[in-house]
Amino acid sequence: MMTSTEYRSDSPAATEAFAAQWAHSLQPDTVILLQGDLGAGKTTFIRGLAHGLGITEPIRSPTFTLIHEYTIQQPPHLKGLPFFHLDLYRIEAPNQLHTLGVEEILERGGIVAIEWAERLELYGMEIPATQVYEVTLEAIDESMRRIHITHLGG
Ligand SMILES: Nc1ncnc2c1ncn2[C@@H]1O[C@H](COP(=O)(O)OP(=O)(O)OP(=O)(O)O)[C@@H](O)[C@H]1O
Ligand SMILES: [Mg+2]
Repeated sequence: MMTSTEYRSDSPAATEAFAAQWAHSLQPDTVILLQGDLGAGKTTFIRGLAHGLGITEPIRSPTFTLIHEYTIQQPPHLKGLPFFHLDLYRIEAPNQLHTLGVEEILERGGIVAIEWAERLELYGMEIPATQVYEVTLEAIDESMRRIHITHLGG
């Protein structure tokens, strides 16, 4: 069943708070595909997710390292699972995805948040996760963002 939710955020803090709250409803083995232009708020949304998952390390965009891994601390049904933050902006060829071990990451049963997820589809990679969400962020003006979440499967 495909369901969708829309939220309007008027500040980075509101985007983070919304994502933190939403994180509590997630199940193990989930992939979140983030889409939106440069500066739309993908990393900000992921910072909120991480906060909701009880991760206290600072969340910096893995633009150069491409992948960051954290350990989920809460809620109880997710505690101990890995939380991955991927940024595929710099991916230029499908073999780079293999080198990064994206398939293995998707098999770890945790929560995987992917910026520039369009790159995955571009290279025809299958997404084996049980739950797949597409989160699209759109800048309305300097501080207003439209956040659209579609549950694609699971
Ligand atoms: N309502 C809002 N929600 C999120 N970010 C906002 C909002 N209003 C303003 N901003 C600003 O927009 C920018 C969002 O930056 P962020 O790094 O999250 O975007 P991004 O989509 O990850 O960009 P990139 O494609 O470069 O990775 C920040 O400077 C943030 O302060
Ligand atoms: Mg980013």
